[in-house]
Amino acid sequence: MYKFANRMGEVSSSAVREIFKAMADPEMISFGGGSPANESFPIDEIKGITDKLLSENGHQILQYGITEGWKPLKEAYLKHIVHPKGIKGTVENVIVTTGASQGIHLLADAFLEPGDVVLVESPTFLGVFSTFNKYFVKSVPVEMDEHGLVMEDLEAKIKEHNPKMIYTIPTFQNPTGRTLPLERRKKVAELASQFNVIVLEDDPYCDLRYSGEVLPAIKTFDQTGHVVLLNSFAKIISPGLRVGTVLAEAEIIQKLTVAKQGADTHTATLTQAICAEFLEQGLLPDHLKKINAMYAEKLHTMITSIEKYFPEGTKFTKPEGGLFIWVELPGEPDVLALFERATSESKVAFVPGIHFCKNPDDGIKHLRLNFSSSTPEKIEEGIKKLGELFTKDFEER
Ligand SMILES: Cc1ncc(COP(=O)(O)O)c(C=O)c1O
Repeated sequence: MYKFANRMGEVSSSAVREIFKAMADPEMISFGGGSPANESFPIDEIKGITDKLLSENGHQILQYGITEGWKPLKEAYLKHIVHPKGIKGTVENVIVTTGASQGIHLLADAFLEPGDVVLVESPTFLGVFSTFNKYFVKSVPVEMDEHGLVMEDLEAKIKEHNPKMIYTIPTFQNPTGRTLPLERRKKVAELASQFNVIVLEDDPYCDLRYSGEVLPAIKTFDQTGHVVLLNSFAKIISPGLRVGTVLAEAEIIQKLTVAKQGADTHTATLTQAICAEFLEQGLLPDHLKKINAMYAEKLHTMITSIEKYFPEGTKFTKPEGGLFIWVELPGEPDVLALFERATSESKVAFVPGIHFCKNPDDGIKHLRLNFSSSTPEKIEEGIKKLGELFTKDFEER
């Protein structure tokens, strides 16, 4: 009856809706989401900050703001997040977005035409497929190994497809937890420059590091303005605030500003101001220390539980940060059937790997496990239940 636009076609597949439905069951132990832990939110600090902001500057904060974003937030983001990482930029290089998700949309608005090619990691963040599908672009998967994007395949695919954009999550990748090493980061920036391709560096997890050495962003090596860096406050403060940032050449930011004007005029000033004040009061380092210690324990519990309960021959990533572990089951498992049984019989949810892949073979034996949303006790209990199911299934095959 309704004549919906073609672009809505692939936006939300029924499989993904099933996963979300399963996760909404209160009895479910959910390793399926990607949310930060409820107990990670700095509620008292945000209460105090909100009170201060409204008392001191309520009229300005509750009025319409400018599309580019709340200037004190852009300044605080540069001072506390960008410059300490050795990345250059001024307020002209930043636009505040309604989450990193909007940053991806605005970049698609600015750069992508129907038929364009975007190179994506295989597997990659589920959310980008729905964004890119809306623009009728072709997402072409690039091979990954245990360290992330494979440079030879990236270069070959650039030459073969002449892409407009490379979308990458270089640090604690969603869904694999993999991190791109230094030399490959330099190489991505070099290839972007050499072949005139935009790199969308989506880096929401970089500050959730529990061990290992900090690595510079790909943006650090950008000599020619081809790299666009997306950051988000979703995972380091709160996703409900809906605040993210794009750092790019001023010319790109101007185009994104035009696109954002038509999308939502500006991101809520109150939540932008909360993030700015959080940074300016110097609260972020201690907050990160606290939440990273909590996540480190959850990650450790999940790793040791997988080792203990999953069938022999299971392979999985051991990330140094982020929120996800990527598991490959032994043999020829039917992961979609296992998902059905896990959610209905064992009451444990995960996301089958195939949903993250343009090339289904890359995720057919895989699943993504999120460790941030459950307590260590629930993590052990859930992994034990999954392990029993997977082991039985493996032995019966
Ligand atoms: C790689 C990646 N990019 C972007 C997002 C969305 O971030 P935001 O909540 O800031 O829109 C997520 C959320 O899970 C993500 O994993």
